[in-house]
Amino acid sequence: MSVKLETRGLGKTYGQFVAVQPTDIQVREGEFLTLLGPSGSGKSTLLQMISGLVPPSSGQLLIDGQEATHTAPGKRGIGLVFQSYALFPHMSVRDNVAYGLRMRKYEKRKLEEAVDDALTMVRMHEFAHRYPSELSGGQQQRIALARCFAYRPSIILLDEPLGALDKNLREHMQLEIRRMHKELGATFIYVTHDQEEALTLSDRICLMNKARIEQLATPQELYDRPASLFAAEFIGHSNVLQGKRENATQLNVEGRLLELSGCVGHETSTQVDNRDNFVLVRPEAARLTEPSAGLLVGKVDECVFLGSDTRALIRLPSGARFSVRCARHIDPRIGDDVGITWDAHRATLLPAQAQP
Ligand SMILES: Nc1ncnc2c1ncn2[C@@H]1O[C@H](COP(=O)(O)OP(=O)(O)OP(=O)(O)O)[C@@H](O)[C@H]1O
Ligand SMILES: [Mg+2]
Repeated sequence: MSVKLETRGLGKTYGQFVAVQPTDIQVREGEFLTLLGPSGSGKSTLLQMISGLVPPSSGQLLIDGQEATHTAPGKRGIGLVFQSYALFPHMSVRDNVAYGLRMRKYEKRKLEEAVDDALTMVRMHEFAHRYPSELSGGQQQRIALARCFAYRPSIILLDEPLGALDKNLREHMQLEIRRMHKELGATFIYVTHDQEEALTLSDRICLMNKARIEQLATPQELYDRPASLFAAEFIGHSNVLQGKRENATQLNVEGRLLELSGCVGHETSTQVDNRDNFVLVRPEAARLTEPSAGLLVGKVDECVFLGSDTRALIRLPSGARFSVRCARHIDPRIGDDVGITWDAHRATLLPAQAQP
């Protein structure tokens, strides 16, 4: 697939403060790329540099292989959608969607067609004559999307567009946005701090932390092979076991020797030194057993009923807690001594050099 957009050392500083470190990203044509990270990690700043609304302090932006670092925002072929819908309150839905097309001097018939198409795509055609104040939050957000889609930009930037919606509506709109992305075939760059949203929507996720890219990978890779402790803890629930290497294949954890061969990441990390090593085990990869059959042992500390399953929290000898997802028929009792086990290939040894 060809590269649609590329940043080369694109960075932003405000005085001494670094908002985005020099960043290299290649976004493929038609891709759905999500910028994910905690508040203040630089997601919006990076997006705004791509849009042209914030001038970069360093580096270059290329669109379709052409230098675009200093191209005016309106000339980049980029559409923008933000959390605040910013609809014009005195205009009907139809006029709101048509506004950008009028500015672009669309001929009347083409304009009407484009508005109809955009309203159909967001499933709001029957609301065309209403005013924004007569719409729910989710409906207003659909109009904001339609307004952006109407002129068919080949790149669409979205900054927390679902941030103001409640959980149910958010989840519904996530699926809708996925559908629209497919229908439009445009390249989407989407900002969120919600990891579930990122996992649901994205072809790839660019995980940001403290103004830099922590990892850029597919949702599956990021979940199964986090490249750092930060990535492991930011995406999904995780148990992180800390220990010292006894030898190339064994880690001393919770007073036991844990076999590392077969662990994801072990093949590239066999070095024995006195740094701490970290092993990640997801709650759904672990099972409860008899203490004698456990890779680790502990006491059931708490059980949390989650509807579809139960999460048992096991207190390990060090005092750390280990979370195990149990099917509903398994009914661990608080205070029970239990073993915890998992298949070796469901554990990930994090690269030692990535530790803080
Ligand atoms: N105009 C500005 N002047 C000075 N600092 C700024 C400016 N704009 C952003 N920053 C700083 O840059 C950092 C990154 O901000 P940014 O808005 O990109 O974060 P974000 O990842 O989008 O966070 P959030 O999830 O809260 O929206 C923050 O520490 C912010 O305070
Ligand atoms: Mg932001």
